[in-house]
Amino acid sequence: MKYGYFDNQNREYVITRPDTPAPWTNYLGTEKFCTVISHNAGGYSFYNSPEYNRVTKFRPNGTFDRPGHYVYLRDDESGDYWSISWQPVAKSLEEANYEVRHGLSYSKFKCEYNDITATKTLFVPKGEDAEVWDVVIKNTSDKPRTISAFSFVEFSFSHIQSDNQNHQMSLYSAGTQYRDGVLEYDLYYNTNDFEGFYYLASTFDPDSFDGQRDSFLGAYRDEANPIAVEKGRCSNSAQTCYNHCGSLHKQFTLAPGEEVRFAYILGIGKGNGERLRNKYQDLANVDAAFQEIIEHWDSRCRKFQVTSPNQGLDTMINAWTLYQAETCVVWSRFASFIEVGGRTGLGYRDTAQDAISVPHSNPAMTRKRIVDLLRGQVKAGYGLHLFDPDWFDPEKADVEPSKSPTVVPTPSDDDKIHGIEDTCSDDHLWLIPTICNYVLESGESEFFNEVIPFADGGEATVYDHLKAALDFSAKYVGQTGICKGLRADWNDCLNLGGGESSMVSFLHYWALDEFIKLAKHLGNHQDVDHYTNMANGVQKACEEHLWDSEGGWYIRGLTKDGDKIGTAQQTEGRIHLESNTLAVLSGAVSAERGARAMDSVDEHLYSEYGLHLNAPSFSTPNDDIGFVTRVYQGVKENGAIFSHPNPWAWVAEAKLGRGDKAMKFYDALNPYNQNDNIEQRVTEPYSYVQFIMGRDHQDHGRANHPWLTGTAGWAYYAVTNFILGVSVDYDGLAINPCIPNDWPGFKVTREWRGATYNITVENPQSVSKGIASITVNGQPHEGSIPAAKQGSSIDVVVIMG
Ligand code: GLC
Repeated sequence: MKYGYFDNQNREYVITRPDTPAPWTNYLGTEKFCTVISHNAGGYSFYNSPEYNRVTKFRPNGTFDRPGHYVYLRDDESGDYWSISWQPVAKSLEEANYEVRHGLSYSKFKCEYNDITATKTLFVPKGEDAEVWDVVIKNTSDKPRTISAFSFVEFSFSHIQSDNQNHQMSLYSAGTQYRDGVLEYDLYYNTNDFEGFYYLASTFDPDSFDGQRDSFLGAYRDEANPIAVEKGRCSNSAQTCYNHCGSLHKQFTLAPGEEVRFAYILGIGKGNGERLRNKYQDLANVDAAFQEIIEHWDSRCRKFQVTSPNQGLDTMINAWTLYQAETCVVWSRFASFIEVGGRTGLGYRDTAQDAISVPHSNPAMTRKRIVDLLRGQVKAGYGLHLFDPDWFDPEKADVEPSKSPTVVPTPSDDDKIHGIEDTCSDDHLWLIPTICNYVLESGESEFFNEVIPFADGGEATVYDHLKAALDFSAKYVGQTGICKGLRADWNDCLNLGGGESSMVSFLHYWALDEFIKLAKHLGNHQDVDHYTNMANGVQKACEEHLWDSEGGWYIRGLTKDGDKIGTAQQTEGRIHLESNTLAVLSGAVSAERGARAMDSVDEHLYSEYGLHLNAPSFSTPNDDIGFVTRVYQGVKENGAIFSHPNPWAWVAEAKLGRGDKAMKFYDALNPYNQNDNIEQRVTEPYSYVQFIMGRDHQDHGRANHPWLTGTAGWAYYAVTNFILGVSVDYDGLAINPCIPNDWPGFKVTREWRGATYNITVENPQSVSKGIASITVNGQPHEGSIPAAKQGSSIDVVVIMG
């Protein structure tokens, strides 16, 4: 069944049936103020961190997405009322039409009911810590109408997310006050004037208002039937104590065909409500702010646009996958409808991988994240998992909790610097390809010389930070020379401790390969020799100890007692995705074994929804392998289609030159292709999810945890750099696609260091890989294309064959 469609022209997903099987979400905000909002206008806002500075309240994992950022309309003649979003009033879909357009950093809600057409567009203007609700109400009947509009948000009970559940003092320390069209919410008596101070304002002069949630909703009622809306008037409640909301009400009389437009503004910071109410009273300022959001994404998407025979790929790469990847880089992994911000901070490996994807569209944030990560690396070379970048920010590190505006804990070094037993064996290694990729894109080679402190004291150049990472993995190896598994590797649930992880050794090899290229480029011959020796050792250990000749694939690792994990002899956990894809992606293994391993992946792990992480799933708890054996079968790390490593398989196939296979695996996971299969998928078709139930679960095909997944960054990186094959190397822009045989060709527009490359790839021989010729501005060319003059436009024609 279809609930909507992609509008590529506007880069929107249009929901035409609001009764989707789950709320479908979007992210508003490009800087510090963020709102996670569903197509039913359920959701919440926060400032800077999803754990602290929660502006509005949200009840996660409910059977519906409430509360939210709502506008109610009431026909003041009949007393009938509804909401512009389908929820919370939820008029019958027989009587009312709803359409929601989730765009890049905005959502537009439209409702046609009772001869009134209303729209509400939510977005966060650049340069402001506020969300604007641009509302238009139009009388489409042939008689005059009297319509009341009411806003509703429930302010966060405490600025700390977890305290929304267990904090009692807010009942006595928080209060709202009303002044000239602005409802101000002060979370703490005597609060400072920014954090902890929220507001809701309107561009109209309200007829009534409510700051007390229970006055607006009424006892034993909820957002579906607020007493204030039922009565047609708020009770002008604004005082200290209890629970707080923001409702501003205005009655409008509309002649036939007449419309009225106004804005609500939800934000943070004393004085901002008044300022923005004045600013946006001139609705041209609302239009200008909205236009800035459109331009923000225009300029980012423009960096890489593709036209290929695969419409789903074009739709996702040209907008949605980039958008999702940026969402992970900017907001990290802790604010969605599933991850509701119980923890602040970033996952080390998550951020290190996300940051590989968007150096072209968001170099500033990519760089910031890289520096955050390097500050979270210890001298021994490993990364500290789940850290708060502020801990490592010298400007903020000295803020004592008592002077901190909000009571954010400042952990001691003992709390943040953990030892080897708590270290993830892969975290630090992701830094190397990510940092090299950033420098290749930006050309900022001096970055390698920048001195950055270690988390546990001392400092080193970025280049030496990378060496520390490689050296750590060389040191912590088990008996066979394969890297130790430690607390976990990429797979959080594979807890091998002193056991060994093939996935990490392959990753180590990939990182070494990237580093050696860098050292060669910099002319550091000693390092080239030293790390080439290291890489040769890793390669030898991998080929000697990890190949399962009976199965024809690479094992996943060894337990601390030396038992192999993932062999043909086993009945569960026989074959795993991570080791086999990384074996090929890293370049560590022979083409022959690599192809065989990927054939095994296809044979044992493929399904119409993507590649399973392992098969069959584990059913017997085994703590020598890890928590994965205690996760239900077919779920998450235990035999689900875990999305994140799927793109590793696309890269592996692209490296093997098998474009049909790469596309087969890509198409299976692509959410776009599930648009007509939502009964099974459940979640939004414009976002990758963390995992899809595997075939060992009765809900096979059901997708879980949209948005915050390393899949986005990796999918983007894999398709752009390896399938479409447009990447940057030390000589320039390199073009080496791997496509299905039946693609006649494709076009890419790529902006790189200020120049635009119009690339046309033709495939007259129906090959998957291989370049017969390249011309640059009509001249024959070989190899990578050196950076052109800023502002220039270069025509590149690539003939495959
Ligand atoms: C989650 C974690 C990620 C981990 C993955 C597999 O997505 O955020 O760090 O690699 O699960 O366990």
